[in-house]
Amino acid sequence: MATTRIPAASMLDLRDAVAGDHPWILALAEVLFADLGDYREILGDWLITPRAEVLVASDAAGPLGFAIVAPRPRIGFRRRVGAELVAIAVIERARRNGVGARLVHEAERRAIRFGACEIRLHTAQGNIAGQDFFTGCGFRPRRALPIFYPSGVRALEFCIALPGR
Ligand SMILES: CC(C)(COP(=O)(O)OP(=O)(O)OC[C@H]1O[C@@H](n2cnc3c(N)ncnc32)[C@H](O)[C@@H]1OP(=O)(O)O)[C@@H](O)C(=O)NCCC(=O)NCCS
Repeated sequence: MATTRIPAASMLDLRDAVAGDHPWILALAEVLFADLGDYREILGDWLITPRAEVLVASDAAGPLGFAIVAPRPRIGFRRRVGAELVAIAVIERARRNGVGARLVHEAERRAIRFGACEIRLHTAQGNIAGQDFFTGCGFRPRRALPIFYPSGVRALEFCIALPGR
């Protein structure tokens, strides 16, 4: 589970996304992940698939960040259920306040709920801040993937084991 500091009492609201959140999520992803591929198109599919859980963190001023987590059936020799943290992002002005950690923590809770034994994610090899964030959350690098993002940017795969499996 997440090892980084998670602010307890705050004005942060964490909830499931509704259709009205989708344009905001896509606009943010399109800008933040522009060097990886067409994230408007990539996340467009994830937002409408019923198997994905889309989380939004917001305060009184509006949305601050989102995360998408989805089951990944039958991984490994034991054919266990895994989970994929498909994307996570926080708007620039809200960063380093624990919003990302809260989203990861909730994604872990959701993954445990749908029976996952671990969460896997990918980030660009050059995204050092992202890697520091995930490491701080307890994820560990597993392997490099030369072919992953549509743009050809190299990816690193991270994972975290979940309790109870
Ligand atoms: C990665 C991201 C989601 C982190 O969100 P955040 O709300 O700023 O993260 P938190 O405040 O919860 O950070 C928790 C801890 O992670 C680490 N961390 C977060 N951002 C970091 C950075 N830029 N550099 C180094 N460590 C960082 C720190 O240990 C931090 O704890 P601290 O602030 O007490 O030192 C955000 O920076 C972001 O949206 N980046 C652009 C999109 C992206 O790279 N997404 C992930 C790859 S798919």
